[in-house]
Amino acid sequence: MFKTIEWTEDGVRMIDQTRLPTSEVYVTCRTYQEVAEAIRSMVIRGAPAIGVAAAMGVALGIKQSRAVSVEELRADFEKIAEMISKTRPTAVNLFWAVKRMRELFESSLNVAPGFSPAGAALKGGATEAEKIAAVKSRLIEEAQRVLAEDIAINEAMGRHGAALIPESATVLTHCNAGALATGGYGTALGVVRAAIAAGKKIDVLADETRPFLQGARLTAWELAKDQIPVTLITDNMAGHFMKLGEIQAVIVGADRIAANGDVANKIGTYTVAVLARENGIPFYVAAPLSTIDLSLSSGEQIPIEERSADEVTHWGGVQTAPADVPARHPAFDVTPHRYVTAIITERGVARAPYADSLKALFAS
Ligand code: MRU
Repeated sequence: MFKTIEWTEDGVRMIDQTRLPTSEVYVTCRTYQEVAEAIRSMVIRGAPAIGVAAAMGVALGIKQSRAVSVEELRADFEKIAEMISKTRPTAVNLFWAVKRMRELFESSLNVAPGFSPAGAALKGGATEAEKIAAVKSRLIEEAQRVLAEDIAINEAMGRHGAALIPESATVLTHCNAGALATGGYGTALGVVRAAIAAGKKIDVLADETRPFLQGARLTAWELAKDQIPVTLITDNMAGHFMKLGEIQAVIVGADRIAANGDVANKIGTYTVAVLARENGIPFYVAAPLSTIDLSLSSGEQIPIEERSADEVTHWGGVQTAPADVPARHPAFDVTPHRYVTAIITERGVARAPYADSLKALFAS
C-alpha cells in the first residue's frame, strides 16, 4: 500500500496526486514553503490530508527556524501559519491543524517545573534555547500524531458507517474521499473498506468528478490497487443509474460541515444529493469532527474556493473549449442538510436535527 504523506528526516514526503494514475511518484517538500505550494497545487488534497500536511508544514518550518528567542520563534510561527492558511480556503481541517499547532506551541512553554521532554529542561528557569528546542521537538511529534490519529479516526468512522450499508450494495461516491484524501484508509472509502472487512459485498460506482477528475484518477486508482470492485462513470450518468435501481447508497466525504449539518464537498456533490433524494437513496456523509465547523451556523457562510478556469477549458495541457470562452470553476458546493440522511463521524452517526446531534457528538 502507498503512503499518502509521511514525516521524514529530509522533510515531508507525499505521493504526487497530480501525477496519478499514470505515475506513482513521491515528492519530498524540504521547506514549509514547498509544503504550502504542494497543498495549493494539489500535489496533496482532500480535507484530512490537507490538515496533516498543514501540521507537518508548520512543524517543518519551526524545525528550520533560526530564532534565538521565544518571541522570534512565535513570529516565525505566525509567518508560517499565514502562508499555509492562504493555500486553500474551504477545507476547515487546514485551519483546525494550524490552530492545534499554535495551541501546542503555547502550552509547550508553560509546562510544570521539572518536566523534561527529549532531555530539554523546561522548568521555570529554562533558558530560551531550551524552550525553543522543546517547542521544536513537541511540534514535530504533534504533526506525526495528527497523522496517526487521522488513520485511527478513519477506521473508527468506517466501523460506524459500515453498519449502515446493506449486506450487498452498489455504493456511489463522488470525488476522492479515500486513503489519498486522508492520512490513510479514507472517510467515505473507509466506510466501504470497513463494510467489505465485515463481509459485505460492496461494489463502488465512482463519479469521474469533473473538472479535476479525482474520481477517475484517484478513487478508481486506489480502489483498484486494493482490489475493491470499482466501475467508473461520468458525473452526468449518476441519475441514470439511480433511476435504474442500480445504486443502494451514496457516500461522500466533506471539506467543511456547518453547525446545522450543511455540507461543503467537491463540486457536483449537491447534484448527487438531490438525485439521491429524488430516487429514495440514502445520502451519507463521512467526516471526522475536525471537518465540522460549529462556528458557522449554516453552509452559506462556508468560503468556496474558486479555482482557475483553465482547469475547465483544458485537460492535461490540451484545450477542450473554444479559446477565450469564459468559464467558471467553483471547486466545492454546499449540500443543504435536508438532503443528508446521516453524518458518520469517529464518535458515531449524527442524524437530523443536526444542530443538536452534531453538538452532542462534540460533548460525548
Ligand atoms: O479539491 P479536493 O480534491 O481537495 O477536494 C476533496 C474533496 O472534496 C473530498 O471529497 C473531501 O475533502 C473529503 S476527503 C476525505
